[in-house]
Amino acid sequence: MIGIFDSGIGGVTVLKEIIKLLPNEKYIYYSDSSNAPYGDKTEDELKIITSNVISFLIDRGCKLIVIACNTASTLSNYLRKKFDIPIIAIEPAYKMVYDYAYDKKTLVMATKRTLESSKFKKLYDKYNNHNTILLPCSGLADLIEEGNNEKIDYYLKEKIGKYKDIDCVVLGCTHYPLIKDNISNILGDVKFFDGGNGVSKMVFEKVKDSISLDCSNFHIEFIDSSNNYKNKERFFLILNKE
Ligand code: DGL
Repeated sequence: MIGIFDSGIGGVTVLKEIIKLLPNEKYIYYSDSSNAPYGDKTEDELKIITSNVISFLIDRGCKLIVIACNTASTLSNYLRKKFDIPIIAIEPAYKMVYDYAYDKKTLVMATKRTLESSKFKKLYDKYNNHNTILLPCSGLADLIEEGNNEKIDYYLKEKIGKYKDIDCVVLGCTHYPLIKDNISNILGDVKFFDGGNGVSKMVFEKVKDSISLDCSNFHIEFIDSSNNYKNKERFFLILNKE
C-alpha cells in the first residue's frame, strides 16, 4: 500500500499521474486540511505536522510514502533520516525548464515556504536560466481548496496580470495544476511544467524494483484530517475527471 499526502486535495494531481503507471495498487490519500496551508507554517511546525502524518500512514500499513506537496517536500531529507521507509518527494519542476526551455522567460509559482527553503535554493542555483521570476503565491492553495473560480481569477489577475511576456510557468505547488486554464486565460499560451509526472516515474521504479506491495486490487482510501466530506467529494470528482 502506498501512502500519499498533501495539505489538502491538491496532491490529487500527483496521485492521478501515479495511477496511470500503477493502476492496480492500493493507496491511502491523506488530506491534511486541518493543518492547511502548509505554505505559511514555520519549518519547525511543519516538521511535527509531516512526521505525524507519516507515522499515521506507516501505522496504517503503508510501505512507501509519497509527499505530494512541494512545501512538505522541502523537509524530505529530515523525514528520510527519521523514518525507515522509502519516501518519494515532489519538487518544483525547474530542472525541466533547464532541460527543455533553457532560454525562455520563466515564472515559478510556489508557496513562500517552498521558495525560501534551502532545498529549492539549491535547485534554483543549479539550474538558474537567469531569466526567471520567483513568485510566492500565499493564499492561492486555500482558494483552490475552496474551489471558487471567481476568487481565483481575481487573485491571479492581481498577482500575475503584469507578467504578459512569460513563456514557461513552473507550477511549484501541487494545487496549481488544477488552475492551468485560469492561468492561461491571463498569461496566454504558456508552457506548463509540474513535478507530478517525474514523481510517478520514481514511484513506479521503486515499486517495480524493491518493494513488495499488495498489488491485487486497485483501491483508494481518502482520509481528511478535518473530516470534511466536501473535500472527499471534490477529491474523487477531480480524480475521476478525464
Ligand atoms: N500543495 C502544497 C504544495 O505543493 C501546498 C499548499 C499549502 O500551502 O498548504 O506546496
